[in-house]
Amino acid sequence: MLGRLNHVALAVPDLAAAMAAYRDTLGARLSAQQALPEHGVTVVFVDVGNTKIELLEPLGEASPIAAFLEKNPSGGMHHVCYEVDDILAARDHLKASGARVLGDGNPKIGAHGKPVLFLHPKDFFGTLVELEQA
Ligand code: CO
Repeated sequence: MLGRLNHVALAVPDLAAAMAAYRDTLGARLSAQQALPEHGVTVVFVDVGNTKIELLEPLGEASPIAAFLEKNPSGGMHHVCYEVDDILAARDHLKASGARVLGDGNPKIGAHGKPVLFLHPKDFFGTLVELEQA
């Protein structure tokens, strides 16, 4: 079921500062910045060849990463995203195995225009897991 690592997401308090650090200090290639109001975040992807780093900054009042940044004011690793071939089959398998799918259980369209789901971090050893249909 589980495919490639699509990205590792870092929540950051200041996207411009994070972009400058990755671009200028680390010498990485960055995507254009993308506002995703329906997800409550602004994202930039860093291309590191074998995978991507997703930089997330809160957008709007009810951002799902606001509480995380309150606990981790300088930022931190927020989630890992794995690819799956069939997200509905993956969801059904996970639910049948007792894993908790966040939200209403239906995939939303993520930053790459593909359906995504999130799994409860307590079911995966403290790590929020995102699944994206490849
Ligand atoms: Co993500």
